[in-house]
Amino acid sequence: MELPVVFMAVLVLCSSAAYAQTAPSPSLTPTPAPAPAPEFVNLTELFSVAGPFNTFLGYLESTKVIETFQDQANKTEEGITIFVPKDSAFASLKKPSLSNLTADQLKSLFLFHALSHYYSLADFRNLSNMSPVATMAGGQYSLNFTDVSGTAHLTSGWSVTKVSSSVHSTDPVAVYQVDKVLLPEAIFGTDIPPTAAPAPAPEIAPAADAPKAADSDDLSPGSSPDKSSSYRIMSWGRLILAISGGLVLFL
Ligand SMILES: *[C@@H]1O[C@H](CO)[C@@H](O)[C@H](O)[C@H]1NC(C)=O
Ligand SMILES: *[C@@H]1O[C@H](CO)[C@@H](O)[C@H](O)[C@H]1NC(C)=O
Ligand SMILES: *[C@@H]1O[C@H](CO)[C@@H](O)[C@H](O)[C@H]1NC(C)=O
Ligand SMILES: *[C@@H]1O[C@H](CO)[C@@H](O)[C@H](O)[C@H]1NC(C)=O
Ligand SMILES: *[C@@H]1O[C@H](CO)[C@@H](O)[C@H](O)[C@H]1NC(C)=O
Repeated sequence: MELPVVFMAVLVLCSSAAYAQTAPSPSLTPTPAPAPAPEFVNLTELFSVAGPFNTFLGYLESTKVIETFQDQANKTEEGITIFVPKDSAFASLKKPSLSNLTADQLKSLFLFHALSHYYSLADFRNLSNMSPVATMAGGQYSLNFTDVSGTAHLTSGWSVTKVSSSVHSTDPVAVYQVDKVLLPEAIFGTDIPPTAAPAPAPEIAPAADAPKAADSDDLSPGSSPDKSSSYRIMSWGRLILAISGGLVLFL
């Protein structure tokens, strides 16, 4: 019979090949395959390292709104857009104080700072047409958006502010810095003191805002490095392991 001869030849070939391959790499430890990274953004971590957003994060944690936000951020098909005031915005907030709000009002106020959908800066023009836009606080807690020379302005009645920078904008999570704490009419009423909401003069102001708009184009994430070469090395390593493993079973 010829079969055993062929079989032996294959076995000899295999073993010599295995010797040649395994000999120089005895210290090769089997590295775990790289886990397919899920698109998970840890908001607590993001607010801790960006900013300073410590006041905002502190309120999110004490009201447990951080869990609602994280849950929404995990829904990758919907996503989330969050407007984050800097610590200085809270420090300069004197007139309507947050200190005597009830727990429920405080919770609504922070839910008011987010939309339950991911919006890139380019999508803000649509939001202007959709105003008033419902926030995660629901009900009458809505925000109006206007586009002034490419810069998104937000108004809640009490607060007129604008998106001053993009902190993070990769689908499904968008985090934009705003200049002021957003104060909803649903909590503070419509009896707005004239000083709280100075009439915006968009016909005169755009020149001051224009340079900001130029930033909005280079916000796309950098191209990811090519991983194919390291992957190929991994594959060879696994092949060698598989061959030598099979040989051990044979002998
Ligand atoms: C998110 O980050 C915070 C702070 O780094 C950490 O305490 C927390 O466990 C992280 N959460 C998840 C779900 O990874
Ligand atoms: C969000 O997803 C992460 C990673 O999958 C998970 O650890 C975390 O518990 C989730 N958080 C919420 C609030 O759903
Ligand atoms: C907070 O307290 C001040 C004075 O103690 C009061 O005038 C104001 O109406 C209170 N605000 C809210 C939202 O309850
Ligand atoms: C914004 O509007 C344009 C056209 O008006 C439309 O094609 C696009 O899908 C809209 N984007 C969102 C996020 O609604
Ligand atoms: C938002 O826009 C709607 C419709 O244009 C308007 O009726 C409402 O008064 C605006 N609200 C604020 C707070 O500007």
